[in-house]
Amino acid sequence: MATLVTGGSGFIGSHTCVEMLNAGREIVVVDNYCNSNPEALRRVRELTGKDFPQYEADVRDKAALSRIFEENDIDSVIHFAGLKAVGESVQMPIEYFDNNLISTLVLLEVMREHGCKRLVFSSSATVYGAGNQPPLTEEMPLGTPTNPYGRTKSMIEDILRDLCVADKEFSAVLLRYFNPIGAHPSGRIGENPNGIPNNLMPYVTQVAVGRLPKLSVFGDDYDTPDGTCLRDYIHVVDLARGHLCAVDYSANHTGAEAINLGTGEGYSVLDLVKTFMKVNEMDVPYVIAPRRDGDLPAVYSCPDKAKRLLGWETEYGLEEMCRDSWNWQKNNPNGFNA
Ligand code: NAD
Ligand code: WQD
Repeated sequence: MATLVTGGSGFIGSHTCVEMLNAGREIVVVDNYCNSNPEALRRVRELTGKDFPQYEADVRDKAALSRIFEENDIDSVIHFAGLKAVGESVQMPIEYFDNNLISTLVLLEVMREHGCKRLVFSSSATVYGAGNQPPLTEEMPLGTPTNPYGRTKSMIEDILRDLCVADKEFSAVLLRYFNPIGAHPSGRIGENPNGIPNNLMPYVTQVAVGRLPKLSVFGDDYDTPDGTCLRDYIHVVDLARGHLCAVDYSANHTGAEAINLGTGEGYSVLDLVKTFMKVNEMDVPYVIAPRRDGDLPAVYSCPDKAKRLLGWETEYGLEEMCRDSWNWQKNNPNGFNA
């Protein structure tokens, strides 16, 4: 029996494929490479010495997805495929609702037609919105997301909760990721954003490698210890391992279960930048810039539910996240487009 990994060529997907294969699991990958490079999957094979079926297809293409289910024995799905850039979603709401919602609905239809009832979904801490005080726990009321991307995540969580009411045998694990950074310690796979990065760590690594002149730290007048925003950065390998635990959990539980994947620690923008400079023994020029619209002062998880239900805890700290992000960037200055 295999797990279908949608979006398996992307940042979190490729790391999850490595952890799944190293644990002896069977996987099948589908990706349309709209935000990734198939080279990532070639390197997954290189890192693990294992092979797996790989399909180039859009998850919204029902005929293609049905064929994948017909050709493989799929008993569970990890659904990473989706568009994820917050700012772009404000400019292109139709594309975001189309891609993220329709892909999920088509996937659920095809799963139903093949009797597959186990889904692990990539949700996000963004569903907590602005009204909750950290540490964020899964029982807190969901907030109103401030952008179309966040709304797609909230809407898909709702769809999956409704589905689990209608089908008592269905298991949906809604993994709410905090801020994934880092890379595989080999330096062979990592985050490969198109254009100028929006997120902090890829911006820092591109300054470090000389592709960008300096970092702008967005605001130093927040009500936090050093005035810059706090986030719960999580190493992508820890995050990937959380997916294995979630796939196993879904085998013995039904219903929709939201689970945070974070470390529970809040680090500031300057903590991250200074740790990066220290562990990598280099300077990263930065300036303090105005606040960025929509940023919350502090977002970090309570990770207790993941430990309780999944038996999962993070192993890597901020130093390893900074070390591995840099190791990836310096060995692949242009990402997979060498
Ligand atoms: P990513 O863009 O690197 O990976 C997504 C993958 O899905 C890409 O390989 C892309 O080509 C593929 N894809 C997109 N639409 C598709 C479609 N219709 N059909 C087939 N393939 C498609 O992103 P990531 O950082 O690996 O994120 C994975 C998931 O986790 C996404 O759903 C994202 O919203 C969610 N998430 C990411 C973060 C983060 O900060 N990276 C945080 C919370 C949640
Ligand atoms: C982190 C901190 C910035 C860039 C986003 C999405 C969220 C989730 C993860 C998907 C903030 C500061 C950033 C820069 C900076 N994705 N910063 N200079 O905004 O916490 O979360 O990615 O679900 O939904 O919103 O992450 O990395 O953009 O920012 O000072 O050049 O770094 O202000 O405080 P964020 P981020």
